[in-house]
Amino acid sequence: MRPEFQAPRGTQDILPERSLLFNRIAHVAENHFRRAAFGRIETPAFEHTELFVRSVGPGTDIVEKEMFTFKDPGERSLTLRPEGTAGVCRAYLEHGMSHRPQPVKLWYLGPYFRRERPQAGRYRQFNQIGAEVIGAASPRVDAEVITLLDRILKKLRVPGVDLRISSLGSREARTAYRARLQQHLRSRMSELPPEIQRRIPTNPLRAFDSYHPQAREVLGDAPKLLDAISSDDAEHFDAVCSLLAEASVEFRIDPTLVRGLDYYTRTVFEFTSDHLGAQSAIAGGGRYDDLISMLGGPSTPAIGWAAGVERIGLALGNKAYPARLNAFVVAPDDLSEVAVRVVSQLRDASISADFDLLGRSENAQLKHALRAGAQWAVLVLSPEAAELRNLRSGERWSTELPELPEQLKWARRHPRRTPTEVDS
Ligand code: HAM
Repeated sequence: MRPEFQAPRGTQDILPERSLLFNRIAHVAENHFRRAAFGRIETPAFEHTELFVRSVGPGTDIVEKEMFTFKDPGERSLTLRPEGTAGVCRAYLEHGMSHRPQPVKLWYLGPYFRRERPQAGRYRQFNQIGAEVIGAASPRVDAEVITLLDRILKKLRVPGVDLRISSLGSREARTAYRARLQQHLRSRMSELPPEIQRRIPTNPLRAFDSYHPQAREVLGDAPKLLDAISSDDAEHFDAVCSLLAEASVEFRIDPTLVRGLDYYTRTVFEFTSDHLGAQSAIAGGGRYDDLISMLGGPSTPAIGWAAGVERIGLALGNKAYPARLNAFVVAPDDLSEVAVRVVSQLRDASISADFDLLGRSENAQLKHALRAGAQWAVLVLSPEAAELRNLRSGERWSTELPELPEQLKWARRHPRRTPTEVDS
């Protein structure tokens, strides 16, 4: 029977088997960030709506139709964060981080919300790992953040990864280019589907995202933004490309690459995986040299990216990790208090341990130990002694209880020998 309540559409529960995979993804990312001198930042899960409208852009899908917006009791409009960059830039300004040594290197991990049509890999609540480097314009920073993401995905062994990069140039170059693109699209209007026609006045660049066959033909003939950027921007882009090659990052230049957020300038990039189906983007990012000033701050160059944790998990086959348990303490009813003491003793010694909580027979406890994935059973024999039994190999020996943690640690280091064999 279907239970009365289900998780809301587009949300999901992460059960323990899967949260181990998520922990691993977070752990690998965190290690890379620490080594690269990034500090972690947490911003609120909701912000003033205007922050996202101004940052992400009023003509984008996110702002037009995907935000979860609500009013607080004081009638102020708030929005569940659809992305992380706007909040991080708001925090950079609010906490005067421009007075810290520049650039400020920040990373984050947490839930984000978009009211999209749910499908595999697309959720209404999802988790992002993100990085933002604020206060440096050098192409070295572009290369650094892209390399960092490349190495995280490689360490996680995400399969079928493809990195595309491009440059959107400066805002001025883009404005001039937009007019040329609009002219091109209008001249071939009858070949375009209505959603592209509708977007010509507000966001013509998004047309490059279309899979519509005729639209693709029209766009194949369209002028490319990468050919229209200034010589400074082209120089910056060339430097980024050579630095990436220097760092052994494989990439393709894709002049049709567009991103769904308006704040980008110069470098943009996207990592996809061919193991993901339609929602193939694993991570994306770019420079946003104008955003901090658009939010009322001084002109401050910046660049960053965000990766979807669920999509990385999907590309990795959503592998369920078995829970790991070092020891399961088995005790007869009259020694159950000893079991409580032994479990605490083991946990205090950083050995994972569990025991029966349902009053099972000793035999049933042993079976449960196997099902729980325990490596060792500790069979309590008396208030002073126990037998250690390897549940994989069957080898066993007895020990005094105070020796137990040391014996287990020893056994972990020497998986195939008993202490007596070593002594002899
Ligand atoms: P984004 O491309 O919108 O960029 O999102 C980054 C990643 O979040 C995507 O590549 C995807 O893996 C994941 N993602 C996005 N939407 C969903 C969804 N509905 N369900 C599951 N996963 C999703 C940004 O958010 C920018 N803030 C990145 C950035 C940081 N640019 C500069 N700094």
